[in-house]
Amino acid sequence: MPGPLDVFRPDALAGHVALVTGGGTGICRGIAAAYARFGADVCIVSRKQDVLDATAKEIAAATGRTPLGFAADVRDPDAIGKAIAATRTHFGKLDTIVNGAAGNFLSPAAALSPNGFRTVIDIDLNGTFNTCRGAFEALQQSGNGFILNISATLHYHGTPLQIHASAAKAGVDAVTKNLAVEWGRFGIRVCGIAPGPIGDTEGMRRLAPGDLGPKITAQIPAGRFGAVDEIAAAAVYLRSAAAAYVTGHILVVDGGHCVATPPLGGSSL
Ligand code: HXC
Repeated sequence: MPGPLDVFRPDALAGHVALVTGGGTGICRGIAAAYARFGADVCIVSRKQDVLDATAKEIAAATGRTPLGFAADVRDPDAIGKAIAATRTHFGKLDTIVNGAAGNFLSPAAALSPNGFRTVIDIDLNGTFNTCRGAFEALQQSGNGFILNISATLHYHGTPLQIHASAAKAGVDAVTKNLAVEWGRFGIRVCGIAPGPIGDTEGMRRLAPGDLGPKITAQIPAGRFGAVDEIAAAAVYLRSAAAAYVTGHILVVDGGHCVATPPLGGSSL
């Protein structure tokens, strides 16, 4: 039985250059590795250079393509501008952005400080806008631009302890749809992926502590957490020529979790 990434041809993304925020760890590390595996040059961006260096080394060993690792905080438009400029200089162009940098924690709304709420909005939503805006010229110039925004399904209904992340990810989905409409005429497609619970990620370590994991699994029609490679496969498809006429779409990859009615008062992370 082939794995989720084994179905693509080896040159599916040849010639592309992608900048992946949050690419040092988790889901976006998987997307960066998959893009490199299928022929794209990749710049991974996160706050910690040592994490980026280790990830770049691992991706290079696995794929034969060495990513550029550039430390920047997506909350800082100047820093992101420098990462974009460095990618263009290093690889000669930039045609793909993956916005995956995110911050999250569990908190009751009544206990969440204004700064806690603002911090998550600033990373997830403002960071996504900063990166899209900063890359516009490069994407337009490429003639085949693509933005992939990683959101969530939290905001499809009320999710306890997640008002900050739900609001941020709702905004990210709005960015996806608005930019698809505004930037289509510049040759730029804009899509999203809304992952459900994905195993072996920092997000799930934070959001499903203790015995919450099995409780969440019981709410997922597929009966299990997803795998990073299952999100990466969706990301490869959406960047590939197979999705050339797909834009403004947010692909839910969650084992059916969001279409199953969550129990009242229960977690639906
Ligand atoms: C309540 C908290 C908190 C917590 C931080 N804050 N952690 N409030 N509960 N557990 C509050 C702080 O008290 C502070 O407010 C404000 O948030 C900013 O905190 P800082 O630590 O100063 O911010 P910073 O150093 O910028 O860190 C950002 C962070 C941190 C989001 C708080 O956790 C982080 O850097 N995370 C990155 C990694 C991450 O979260 N990965 C998981 C993503 S999972 P005050 O008022 O005290 O100043 C994901 C999946 C979503 O996104 C979809 C799920 C299905």
